[in-house]
Parts: sequence; structure tokens; C-alpha cells
Amino acid sequence: MSMIERVIAKAKSDVKTIVFPEGNEERTILAAERLMKEGIARPILLGDPEDISAFAVRLGADLTGITTMNPLSGGKFEKYAAALYEIRKNKGVTQSDAENLCLDPMYYGIMMVKMGDADGLVSGAVHTTGDMLRPALQIIKTKPEMKIVSSSFLMDCPDKSLGEDGLLVYADCVVMPCPTAEELAYIAIAAADTARRLCGFEQPRVAMLSFSTKGSAKHESVSKVQKAVEIAHELAPELLLDGEMQFDAALVPEIGESKAKGSPVAGHANVLIFPDLQAGNIGYKITQRIGKADCFAVLQGLNKPCNDLSRGCTVDDIVHTAAMTAVQAQA
Ligand code: ACO
Repeated sequence: MSMIERVIAKAKSDVKTIVFPEGNEERTILAAERLMKEGIARPILLGDPEDISAFAVRLGADLTGITTMNPLSGGKFEKYAAALYEIRKNKGVTQSDAENLCLDPMYYGIMMVKMGDADGLVSGAVHTTGDMLRPALQIIKTKPEMKIVSSSFLMDCPDKSLGEDGLLVYADCVVMPCPTAEELAYIAIAAADTARRLCGFEQPRVAMLSFSTKGSAKHESVSKVQKAVEIAHELAPELLLDGEMQFDAALVPEIGESKAKGSPVAGHANVLIFPDLQAGNIGYKITQRIGKADCFAVLQGLNKPCNDLSRGCTVDDIVHTAAMTAVQAQA
């Protein structure tokens, strides 16, 4: 069974409600049909119900059992606007701003998750990453034990000698452009948690990546990773985490052995932490395009699960992201 098949099976074992702010979008409607039919999640599609059902008819999609909802007619508009005002009033948001924001399906969907009327949210087939991230950061906020929100990419590689039977977790490839050493430490801890919960890794082995291995090069960007290792050890002493190390030292046993002798991680890492977003984003795309890995992205550190899609996503991608969101919600 592949990683994503295991995630889907887990999602089916305790079905969660997932809201889709882009409810009137072709791939989202087709994904919602599949999620409902296969018992992976209970989808809520936001948008004008008449438009959504007319669109579904044209697509030949059966929306039986799926809730479709317009923010204004959903029955909770005023309650959500009042709650949003309370959450954001110290940031200068007025009652009337809050009402306007709640007319936006993205904000309405985030409020549904915040208020417990949906277990998670999936969006991004139309909107950019920032469009979804900003309201999630402002309203859902981080888990109490986490200082920041970041992301992990679950990379399912054809070379099964890598990581955990070909599965590697990469972080952060989406959110934090220039993390500080402390933020990098939190990214590592969150990625290890994602590796346990979503990938089923019993023992995450976290490598903090750099262009230097154990002091082989000196530069302020290397010092940042070294500092992040120290902070992560203080924050999570039980975690198998080491660095700084180069990509090959992290993954290839002989190179790990020669460059970082005695490291509990080098040569056998299954979680790879990139020093910044440039490296992480480029790194996952190289693994996907040249390494032919299947990749699945999730946000981590948010108090409730909300996940982003690529605008080029397929129906399968939406189903997979919804399944991962549902499993995050089970936790
Ligand atoms: N974790 C927790 N909170 C955060 C984070 C974070 N990582 N980043 C920002 N915030 C909070 C801020 O403190 C602020 O809270 P407040 O309004 O309550 O004070 C709120 O979120 C908004 O912050 P801003 O600084 O106004 O938001 P910003 O404009 O910086 O946007 C964003 C944040 C969207 C995460 C930005 O960092 C970003 O665009 N990141 C890159 C996204 C991207 O384009 N990724 C690559 C493409 S995706 C792909 O290839 C798959």
C-alpha cells in the first residue's frame, strides 16, 4: 500500500467534514463527488448552490449528500462576522469590515473551521497560496506549542532505498521565505510530527541541510543552521536530529559515514529540513520533476488543518489533499 493509500484508508476510518471555498470550480466539484462516494470525507462546497448544481449537471457529477452553501444564506453569517470582528478588532478590523470579509468564501470557510462547523479546509485550485494562508494565519493561528506555520512535502520516490521505503519528508517548501534559526528549529519539529502522523514513521530522523557538513564550510548561513540544530535539541531533546549536513551526507550511507561519522541521522535521514524557502521550493521541484517522485503538500503548525492546492492541481490532487486534511483533523 502506498503512503497516500494508507492516508485515504485512515481518513475513511473516522470521516471528517472538509470545506471547499472554491465550490464552484470544476475539479473541486468532481473531487467532492469522489470524496463523498468513496467515504473519504464529507465535503461542503461554498458558492451559489444553484450555480454549483447546474455546473455539476453539466459535468455529470452526482452531488447527493454534499452540502452546498452560500455564505449569506448559510445561517451563520452574523455569528461568524461577530466572531471575526472579535478576533481581528485589535488589528483595526471594524464590524463592517468583518461582514465584508465573511462574504468572501475563503474567509467564510476559514471561519467555519475556526467555529468547529467544518473539521478542515482545502483551497488553492483558483487562489494563490498567500490568498489562503493569510486568513488562516490571521484567524486559525498556530497551535499553542508552535511559534510558526510551515509546510511539509511528502515525497514518494521511485528509489525505495531512500528514506523510509522511498518516502521522504521535505520542509519548508511553501511558507517561510527566510526562517531564523529558531523558526528553522520549529519547522524541523513540526516536520517530524507530520512524518509520524501522516507518513507513519515510527522514528523520524531529521537532517538539517546546508552546503556544509559539520563545519566543512564557514558562512553566516551555515551558522544559522548550526544554531537551529542547537535550538531544536533544546526544544525536543528526544528527537533524532542532526546537522548541519549536505544533502548527500543526509541520504547516502557511505557519504554520511565519511562526512559525519557517528551521526544518528547522516546517511539514513527520512526528514530533510532546507535552510530557507528558495532551497526548499527548488529542492522539492527537482525531486518531483527529475527524480519522478509523487509529492503531497500539507501545512503544519496551524491550530486546525487548512491545506493549499497548486493551481495546476488535478482531481486526484484535491482528493489526496482532502484525505490528508481529514487525517490531520483526526489528531
Ligand atoms: N506562521 C504564523 N503566523 C504567520 C506566519 C507564519 N509562518 N507568517 C505570517 N504570520 C502572521 C503574521 O504574524 C500576521 O499576523 P497578524 O495579522 O495577526 O499580526 C499574519 O500572519 C499576516 O502576516 P503578514 O506579514 O501580513 O503576511 P504576509 O504578507 O507576510 O504573508 C505569507 C504571509 C502568505 C505566509 C507569506 O510569507 C508568503 O507569501 N509566503 C510564501 C508563499 C509562497 O508564495 N510560497 C511558494 C509557492 S507555493 C508552491 O510552490 C507549492
